[in-house]
Amino acid sequence: MQPISDHLLLKAIRKESIDRTPLWIMRQAGRYLPEYIDLKNKSGGFMNLVNNPDLACQITLQPLERFSLDSAIIFSDILVVADMLGIQLSFEENKGPIFDKTIKTEKSLNEMKRDYDISEVRYVFDAIEQTKKELSGKIPLIGFIGSPWTVTTYLIEGNSSKVFENVKKMISEERILVNDILTEITEVSIRYINQQIKSGVDAVMIFDTWGGLLQDNDFYELSVKYVEKIKNSLTDSNIPVIYYIREPKNKINTLNKMDVDVIGIDSTIGLGEFRKATNNKFAVQGNLDKDTLKLSEKEIHEAVEQLFEEYDFNTGHIFNLGTGITPDIDPSKVSILIDAVKEISPKFNRKVKNAEV
Ligand code: CP3
Repeated sequence: MQPISDHLLLKAIRKESIDRTPLWIMRQAGRYLPEYIDLKNKSGGFMNLVNNPDLACQITLQPLERFSLDSAIIFSDILVVADMLGIQLSFEENKGPIFDKTIKTEKSLNEMKRDYDISEVRYVFDAIEQTKKELSGKIPLIGFIGSPWTVTTYLIEGNSSKVFENVKKMISEERILVNDILTEITEVSIRYINQQIKSGVDAVMIFDTWGGLLQDNDFYELSVKYVEKIKNSLTDSNIPVIYYIREPKNKINTLNKMDVDVIGIDSTIGLGEFRKATNNKFAVQGNLDKDTLKLSEKEIHEAVEQLFEEYDFNTGHIFNLGTGITPDIDPSKVSILIDAVKEISPKFNRKVKNAEV
């Protein structure tokens, strides 16, 4: 069998020319799949899946049994890192994540556990080891964390706030405390992601879902600076790093200074526009609007064609949605999308090869 480094996904990350564009789907294991809902109901909820390596492995593999995708991503959540801080995470149906404690004050920061015992999240490492065995080198496995900024917004709010009232107030009134919290979360995240790497993941993804709340210098000072610290602390300096950011349009200057392999983007900017603005520095992951999956087969094909057309010079692209797939999507539309990408992408990849000779 080919070494994992020769897999399409890893070649695309290195911007090598390939025959077709690899694809996977953010949140590919999840509520749009009836077999996921089934297992979740049987096991008593989302956290019971995440905390059980056998089930987490099984769920990771579910979308791969249905679809021919080019990567797996370990089934877990960016917020499980709270377990290392002695903070209990739970999920209530339709309410999103809820923590039993928040970190809003110097006192609550000091009360947080400080030995950061990674064995608290052993279940994630066991799930990674088990999944790697099951995949037996056929496709890569992505491990992930949230960016310290994105995780901190949840730890400050204590739930899935869409308003971020406390966070915004703290940035302007208690900047030093915010930086202290970010420093701690960065420390925990470094240990957590390094152990995921030791457990066998082939690439790491850093989700900065709420980085878009920050503008200009704040985006660097409160988010990117800490992502860079993580990147510079990885025990394997060759492991590919994918950084995911929404609404990247007004962040190009800062993004251009980053030292990551791939930037994952949402659909608020064209792939080609982003590639040009970043001078082809990064491989790009994305960015089909998830609602395209509600359209007809013909319209999905047209949207995929248009996306490749817009990207034009198609090296270093990993096809994905711009944001995670939602529960209202019919899985048969995912099959249509995968077929469309496999059918349409080769002619764009040939164009790259021809341009190179
Ligand atoms: O992509 C995958 O298949 C891997 C698993 C994965 C989950 N969450 C599982 C999950 C990944 C990579 C994440 C990342 C994550 N988690 C992010 C960043 C990516 C993004 O979507 O922007 C964020 C912000 C979270 C935090 C989180 N987890 C929220 C706000 C919620 C509730 C809202 C929602 O989207 O459901 C979750 C729950 C969650 N994480 C579910 C899944 C499958 C749904 C749980 C359920 O079955 O009810």
